[in-house]
Amino acid sequence: MDRIQIPIEKLQVKSHSLWDDQWFLLTCGDFQKRHFNTMTVSWGSLGTMWNKPFAMVVVRPTRYTYQFMEQYETFTLCAFPEPYRKALNLLGSKSGRDGDKIAESGLTPEAATVVYAPCFAEAELVLECRKIYWDDYDPAHFLDPAIDRLYRKDYHRIYFGEILAVTGANHFLGK
Ligand SMILES: Cc1cc2nc3c(=O)[nH]c(=O)nc-3n(C[C@H](O)[C@H](O)[C@H](O)COP(=O)(O)O)c2cc1C
Repeated sequence: MDRIQIPIEKLQVKSHSLWDDQWFLLTCGDFQKRHFNTMTVSWGSLGTMWNKPFAMVVVRPTRYTYQFMEQYETFTLCAFPEPYRKALNLLGSKSGRDGDKIAESGLTPEAATVVYAPCFAEAELVLECRKIYWDDYDPAHFLDPAIDRLYRKDYHRIYFGEILAVTGANHFLGK
């Protein structure tokens, strides 16, 4: 997939549908060292905090990806066109702990432009991020009881990543 550099202020997305319908691969680790993992995510946000553009992701401690998020400073978020839905379903249902699910998915990891974490050649949008904050959800602060029912005490760890670079297909470049 051909991607161009997109200045963050010109990034054009349908932000809710991007998370809720299209999903992302969250990939963390070091491409050069061939030590990384990826998983599908659909909960998170994009915004501005501390005068920086950020992507916020939430990772349950039970995920293999969690270990990489703890160990490494950078991560990428990659969005894909519809034909890759099957790959995203696979990467969101199998664990990298149990085998080479990335090879099984058929996706091609490649170097990102500024971070050590890889992205994927097939992605139509890549956000390259550096962790700047983390926290853990506190169930005492859930004001809607329905939220707690989504957990088995495995509350997410929240990571804010400063977006350092964006590459994407032409239609992600707004005016
Ligand atoms: C559509 C979709 C969205 C998901 N979103 C998240 C998420 O936001 N946070 C999370 O911790 N797990 C999420 N998951 C679950 C992980 O992707 C899944 O458990 C994956 O197998 C973990 O892989 P790993 O053990 O290799 O890290 C999602 C799964 C799917 C299919």
